[in-house]
Amino acid sequence: MRLVFFGPPGAGKGTQSAWLTAHLAIPHLSTGEMLRAVAATGTEVGRAAESCLAVGRLVPDPLVIRIIEQRLAEDDCRPGFLLDGFPRTRRQAESLDEMLARRGTPLDLVLNLVVPEEMLVQRLTARGRADDTEEVIRQRLQVFYAETAPLLQHYQDQSLVRDVDGRGTPAEVRQRIQAVVEPPQTPPEAGEEGKGKREG
Ligand code: AP5
Ligand code: MG
Repeated sequence: MRLVFFGPPGAGKGTQSAWLTAHLAIPHLSTGEMLRAVAATGTEVGRAAESCLAVGRLVPDPLVIRIIEQRLAEDDCRPGFLLDGFPRTRRQAESLDEMLARRGTPLDLVLNLVVPEEMLVQRLTARGRADDTEEVIRQRLQVFYAETAPLLQHYQDQSLVRDVDGRGTPAEVRQRIQAVVEPPQTPPEAGEEGKGKREG
């Protein structure tokens, strides 16, 4: 399955991706994690990325797109992948479309995790990652609503989006996601009955 996990900072994308990627046996492609790793190298590119992460601004598109393009070309992405935190801009979304179109492997699903803003701020201030200060959280949320949230329409136009209520405990959210990725099967008896009727 090829899926995009969509939702604001603090919605629970990382938390839910952990079990979901294990469950679907697909790699977890988090651009936030990849960029924190790049920043930790301390190279010139790393320092440039770090300066964006620290203030909650988006890292420039060309770098992020290059990272994702290289990652998607790796063998473990053949059966599918979960993108967490990408795409975040129109240019990233268009690049992703092009990459997937070239491979003939379109997206299957966009899971949109919906959480009210005040709950996001509470969750993030409680976590305490380097960019989880009140000021940087507000900046990340502003960037999300201005640049990333409008991308949802692009995927809604393709009927790819399923909204998931991200409030409640992680276990409750997990159950809701499970219901989307594993819709209840038609009981086999019903299938047999239908077959019998057609034959008879
Ligand atoms: P990124 O790492 O993607 O951070 P983010 O989008 O701000 O989202 P978070 O990781 O904070 O939230 P999450 O939804 O994963 O929630 P989580 O499960 O952790 O990006 C960081 C930075 O990298 C960006 O600001 C930007 O600079 C750069 N970047 C990344 N991608 C980029 C791109 N494509 N282009 C350009 N720049 C890019 O949960 C949050 C907290 O809540 C945790 O403590 C968790 O334990 C808790 N929690 C989770 N679920 C629940 C629940 N149900 N109830 C209570 N608490 C919960
Ligand atoms: Mg995350």
